[in-house]
Amino acid sequence: MKALFSCGMIASLLTAGCAGLNEHKTPVSFAAVRPVLEANCVHCHGVNRLANMPSFSDTHALAKLIGPGNWIVPGHPEASRFYQIVIYADEHPGAMPPTGHAISKAEMAKLSAWIAGGASIPEGSPIKLNPRGRGPRSM
Ligand code: HEC
Repeated sequence: MKALFSCGMIASLLTAGCAGLNEHKTPVSFAAVRPVLEANCVHCHGVNRLANMPSFSDTHALAKLIGPGNWIVPGHPEASRFYQIVIYADEHPGAMPPTGHAISKAEMAKLSAWIAGGASIPEGSPIKLNPRGRGPRSM
């Protein structure tokens, strides 16, 4: 119960931050979110890494996860699996990244604002997402 409570608090803080961003009509671009995914996710969610999980190691692969009912629901971070699992407390089963460290509140806010603003990704050739940093400790 304790974990769920703090999670809800984080979610409401982020929602408040998001509403503020939307008021100013400055949606967060993909360029702001890319480093978050490169530092925390694509070490595992890359090609041939997770047999049963879709890769999002480039923008075309990521685009396949965006849409109503999909992992990323444009305009609705709270309904997006992609966002729900990063705001879980570390010890919550299914929290992402699953081991090592949670993403920072600033990173959560960027992810939330990007999804709230429509989860746009650049058109044209795919942009590769390269794992950066040492990644989660279990790697
Ligand atoms: C250490 C490796 C690793 C890292 C890093 C990682 N994931 Fe995962 N992810 C997994 C595994 C393994 C699964 C499958 C979990 C399962 O089936 O219970 C998964 C599943 C998921 C799912 C589906 C979860 C569900 O319950 O539907 C999403 C969405 C996801 N990851 C997003 C992310 C995001 C976003 C990041 C970065 C913030 C991230 N992951 C970082 C290994 C990782």
